[in-house]
Amino acid sequence: MWARASSRLWCQVLIAGLAAAASITAVAGPGQQAPDVLRGEQLYGRCMGCHAPAYDSVGPRHCGLFGRRAGSLPGYAFSAAMKAQPWVWNAATLDRFLAAPLAAVPGTSMTYDGIADARERRDLIAYLRALDASPQCRAASPAKHQE
Ligand code: HEC
Repeated sequence: MWARASSRLWCQVLIAGLAAAASITAVAGPGQQAPDVLRGEQLYGRCMGCHAPAYDSVGPRHCGLFGRRAGSLPGYAFSAAMKAQPWVWNAATLDRFLAAPLAAVPGTSMTYDGIADARERRDLIAYLRALDASPQCRAASPAKHQE
């Protein structure tokens, strides 16, 4: 009697464990983890020789990047190639550009080899997306956030 009860209990534990494992796989997809924004922030160190989130440097600022048309930020001198680019920046266009900037936009003045690792690009793009909510971006464009 005791033996039967305990084996039933074990069976319930096992089923609960399997269900939890299945739901984790369903959320993240097989072999995929959610992007890591903190790792993306570290990777952004590679961009900071030329970029800053809230002001233009060698390259244009990255606050407000998502949803912005490529080469459209007022006050920054883009290359003709970037200005002619019809892309709007989102996860897909950024992934393509950052993998190989000079191949994706021939003639761009962003002389950077790119990020070959897809996982690193995903983390970096998640960071760029999260950037808009950061204090430095909110301070840089208060008008945008008052609408
Ligand atoms: C060697 C300097 C340099 C480095 C390093 C660099 N960039 Fe750039 N970036 C530029 C320049 C210059 C431009 C303007 C390109 C043009 O006008 O063709 C630019 C443009 C961009 C744009 C287009 C912005 C817009 O408003 O259209 C994005 C996005 C971008 N860079 C992301 C990055 C990211 C992310 C990194 C780090 C992985 C990075 N860049 C590293 C110099 C650099």
